Amino acid sequence: MDIDLVNPDFYANGGIPHEQFRWLRENAPVYRHHGDGAGETDFWAITRFDDVVHVSRHPEIFSSREKLALFPEPSEDQLAMQRMMMLNQDPPEHTRKRSIVNRGFTPRTIGKLEDHIRAICDGLIDEVAGRGEADFVHDISAPLPLYVICELLGAPPEDREKIFDWSNRLIAQDDPDYRAPEDDGMAAATELYAYANELAVRRREEPRDDIVTKLLQQHGGEELSVDEFDLFVMLLTVAGNETTRNAASGGMLAFFENPAQWQRLLDERAAGGDRLAGTFPDEIVRWVSPVNLFKRTAMKDTEIRGQRIAEGDKVVVFYSSANRDEGVFADPYSFDVGRDPNPHIGFGGGGPHFCLGAHLARLELRVLFETLLARMPGITQTGDARRLRSNFINGIKEMPVRFAT
Ligand code: HEM
Repeated sequence: MDIDLVNPDFYANGGIPHEQFRWLRENAPVYRHHGDGAGETDFWAITRFDDVVHVSRHPEIFSSREKLALFPEPSEDQLAMQRMMMLNQDPPEHTRKRSIVNRGFTPRTIGKLEDHIRAICDGLIDEVAGRGEADFVHDISAPLPLYVICELLGAPPEDREKIFDWSNRLIAQDDPDYRAPEDDGMAAATELYAYANELAVRRREEPRDDIVTKLLQQHGGEELSVDEFDLFVMLLTVAGNETTRNAASGGMLAFFENPAQWQRLLDERAAGGDRLAGTFPDEIVRWVSPVNLFKRTAMKDTEIRGQRIAEGDKVVVFYSSANRDEGVFADPYSFDVGRDPNPHIGFGGGGPHFCLGAHLARLELRVLFETLLARMPGITQTGDARRLRSNFINGIKEMPVRFAT
């Protein structure tokens, strides 16, 4: 089989290459991917569930430094910024920051946002209701996570648009629709950094009952410095946006392609039940796997399935493949909103970097689709979903829909 897991055009034209992944899981689960020399394209591709979990849970062997995209190679400025973010750090540096930010993301703190999220979803649907048609990505799935992050940060609604723009420019996409080729996102990063800085200073002067205040509060010396806070805001903006946006868009597409599953949710609601509300968000994340991969670096010689990995080698874990692993999921190629148990690793394979926003993302997905089921039960797709040109994010850029409200 001809294997190319890097070329973004490949993803733009067909989405996740599931046939290649199936072949790799069966025939070469620890596969040496040889690139064409452009960017970091020489790496070990890890495609089976158990191996992705193993790599994720052993940060002392598989470091998270330089874990971001494979291609193209980041600029020196981007690398310098990435290195300072928790996402790219290892214990013990990572542990301290993570234990501070965890405070703001407990199920209880996140649960309190449900009414706000419902109001945001209703507001987005109110905006398009009169038109009878919309672009699902532009009008619904893209603004939702961004508005939620603004809510988290206590940013006023009039700032949403500029934060939206910074966030789009910041996210290093290979897609020309997202940014001009000469823009490496650094200008947006600088502006967002300055914005976060102002926010931090204001909140230190006037504390409120919100997550920002919690992160900046003194806790026996265990608080974030203003600098660390600014970087964290940047990380949240990147990590919380495209992921949730594409989970929502890919979830909607999965319902269009599997109308019986949409009907199952409608029938359950009509009967007054809510069991599926507890399972469908995770099935969407398994099915879509919005984050296709992350990279690790081997810190010493090691082995996976008997294959020797040398110190310094790059190891890439493919969540999208692991989430279709036949050894773990019954009938992995069917989208089943009642799947239970569903041990997917769309939020990471466990270990120290497991997604900080998993509770929030599940909540956003549940409330969004509950709102759509209630207000747009007959939503249909009216044109092709245009896919993002990226090997990192399994994304959809546009998806026209029609509905009656
Ligand atoms: C980390 C996926 C939503 C914040 C991660 C990782 C994955 C992931 C795969 C890396 C795990 C690892 O390296 O082991 C997703 C998906 C989402 C989502 C699929 C939506 C469906 C969010 C949201 C937020 C968020 C809404 C915050 C608002 C983060 C942060 C990290 C992270 C801060 C880094 C954690 C660390 O380094 O300790 N996410 N994420 N994510 N995610 Fe998410």
